[in-house]
Amino acid sequence: MLIRKAKVTDVPGIYGLIEHNAKKGLVLIRSHSSICEDLLSFYVAVEKDEVIGVGSLYIYDETLSEIRSLAVSENHMKKGIGKRITQKIVEDAEQLGIGRMISLTYQVDFFSKLGFSVIQKETIPQKVRKDCLGCPKFFACDETAMVILLNEPAVFQQ
Ligand SMILES: CC(C)(COP(=O)(O)OP(=O)(O)OC[C@H]1O[C@@H](n2cnc3c(N)ncnc32)[C@H](O)[C@@H]1OP(=O)(O)O)[C@@H](O)C(=O)NCCC(=O)NCCS
Repeated sequence: MLIRKAKVTDVPGIYGLIEHNAKKGLVLIRSHSSICEDLLSFYVAVEKDEVIGVGSLYIYDETLSEIRSLAVSENHMKKGIGKRITQKIVEDAEQLGIGRMISLTYQVDFFSKLGFSVIQKETIPQKVRKDCLGCPKFFACDETAMVILLNEPAVFQQ
């Protein structure tokens, strides 16, 4: 199993994993075209040319990034693949010099094990403006916001 940046040939596999989990309300749906437009942000876990895991790195600004579209194929869960994809995305964001990474998630225990901590959504207005204001669950959001610090926050004071 290999974790690497996505290629165009991975798009159908990425779309399939995201669509499957979006139907369950676990990740936001993405169209084929939006996956292609943002292909540079996607990472995949691949086994025998099959996409068995996906995740993406979204950058808001120098202070904030988000891990999005994280999903592992049901046949391959609980084998450390989600952990490896997340660690790769965290590592790359850290190397880019970004201050923090957030996740909005139902998988609190999974992200806790990887060093993320629960925060109030009010501390991430960038996320609220980007996705939450247009969301039908805005007034009854049951996802947990979590954060991991990557680089010294003092560098990013505005
Ligand atoms: C969440 C998800 C990505 C985890 O991927 P995975 O490959 O099954 O997880 P891993 O095997 O890497 O697990 C890493 C650790 O987290 C634990 N873990 C995994 N899923 C967990 C869960 N749902 N609840 C609690 N712990 C979990 C594992 O037991 C493992 O612990 P260990 O290191 O002590 O052995 C996967 O379950 C998934 O695709 N879920 C559906 C989509 C989703 O909810 N995505 C998250 C959107 S934010």
